Amino acid sequence: MARLVACVLLLAVSSTYGRHEQYEGHQLFQIRGPQRELATLGAKGALDLLSTKASTSGVLEAMVKLSPEERQQWLPYFDQREITYTKIADNLAEILRKEEQEIELSRLAAARSGEGMSWDTYYDYEAINNHLDELARQNPGLVTVINAGLTFEGRQIKYVRISTTRFENELKPVIVIDAAVHAREWITPPVALYIIDQLISHPDDELTTEIDWIIIPLANPDGYEYSMNSDRLWRKTRSRVHTGSDECPGVDGNRNFDHYWGTSDSANDPCTIVYEGPAPFSEPETRVIRDAVMRQVNRTPLYISLHSYGNMFLYAWGNNGTLPENGLILHLAGVRMAQAIDAVALDKSEPYIVGNAANVLYYTTGTSRDWTKSVGVTMTYTLELPGYEYGFIVPPQYIKQVVTETWAGIAEGARYILSW
Ligand SMILES: *[C@@H]1O[C@H](CO)[C@@H](O)[C@H](O)[C@H]1NC(C)=O
Ligand SMILES: [Zn+2]
Repeated sequence: MARLVACVLLLAVSSTYGRHEQYEGHQLFQIRGPQRELATLGAKGALDLLSTKASTSGVLEAMVKLSPEERQQWLPYFDQREITYTKIADNLAEILRKEEQEIELSRLAAARSGEGMSWDTYYDYEAINNHLDELARQNPGLVTVINAGLTFEGRQIKYVRISTTRFENELKPVIVIDAAVHAREWITPPVALYIIDQLISHPDDELTTEIDWIIIPLANPDGYEYSMNSDRLWRKTRSRVHTGSDECPGVDGNRNFDHYWGTSDSANDPCTIVYEGPAPFSEPETRVIRDAVMRQVNRTPLYISLHSYGNMFLYAWGNNGTLPENGLILHLAGVRMAQAIDAVALDKSEPYIVGNAANVLYYTTGTSRDWTKSVGVTMTYTLELPGYEYGFIVPPQYIKQVVTETWAGIAEGARYILSW
C-alpha cells in the first residue's frame, strides 16, 4: 500500500513539475529603508513586500523578489533613495523546487506513519476538509462542521464550531480564528487545525468547556490550491467578476472587508496584490468570515486572523494609526500572548512585536482586523506567524514548533478572557 501511494505521489509530482519556472532567475533581497517610503511602495503594491517588519524607529525591513527586469528597474532606485539591499537567494525557482521535494517526502513519511493528520507536512484542500468532517463524526457532542459557502471556483469553505453546549449558552465568550485568507501563507492552516486538536483532546479543560470557538482553517481554498498547484506565491482569491479580471484575477481578502473600504487609491488596481475588489464583501471567502463573526458578535471578545510572516500581533486602527478606546487592553492582551509564545520559541526566532498595525507597518484599509473591531469584537488581531529565514516557505520540519508555540499564545489569550 505504501508503495502504491508512493508511486501515485511521484506521478503527481512529475506531472506538475515545471510550474516554478515562472520564478526562474528571480532573486530574493532583504531591503531596508525609510518606513514611509517602503510603506508607500508596499501599500501601492508596486513592490510585493514578501514580509515587512519595523526594525528601528522609522525604518522598515522587507524581503522582495526581483526578476532580472525588475532588478534593472529597482536596484538603481534603491541606490538613489538610500534603501540598502542584500541578496539572500539567487534563484527562487530553485528554492520552490526544493520545497516541493521536501513536502513530497514529508507527505510520504506522514502517510507511512499511520492514519490521521500529522504536524510534519502540509495538506491540500481536500485532505483538510475531509479531516474536519472526520473530526465532526468522531466528536459529535463537541464539534460541528459548517459548510459555509462555495468559493468562486466552487470549493466548499468549511468552518468548525467547538462547544460543549452546542453554542446555546449565550453567557459563554466566543473566540473566532481564521487562517489562509492569504493563499501562500501555508503555515496558517496547521496552526488552526492544531488549535482544534488541542480543544478536542482536552475536553475537560476550561478552554474547551467555558469558551465557544469558531475556527476557519482554510478561508481561501481556491487561492490555496492555486498556490499549491500553479503559483506558490499566490495571495488573493481566484474570483473573476471584476473589470480587468481576465488579466488579473482575484481579490486580496484582507482588503475586502467593509471598513474604510475604497478609501485608498492604491487598493483599486486589480493587478496589484492588495486589490480590494469591486465592492466590500465581493468575495464569498470574506462573506463567510463576516457571517461567522456576526452570528454571535455580542459575545465575541477575541478574533485572530492568522497570517505569515513576521512575528507580530497587530491591532487597530490600521486605517489611520490611532488607537481604539481599549487600546491599552489590546496592547496588554497582545503582549501576554506574545510573551507566552516567546517563552517557548526557538532561539533563532525573533521576539514578537505587538503594536498598532499602521505604526508597526503601514496604513491598510478593508482588513478583517479593523472590520471585526468596528462591529464590536473587543480584541482583534492580525497574527503574523514566524517565517524564520524562509519567509512563506517554512519547511515542514518547523510546523510542529510553530503550531505548539502559537497554541501557547492563543491559550494565554483565551485564559485572559476567562479571567475577566
Ligand atoms: C481613525 O479611524 C477610526 C476607525 O477605524 C475612527 O473611529 C477614528 O475616528 C479615526 N481617527 C481619526 C483621527 O481620524
Ligand atoms: Zn497575510
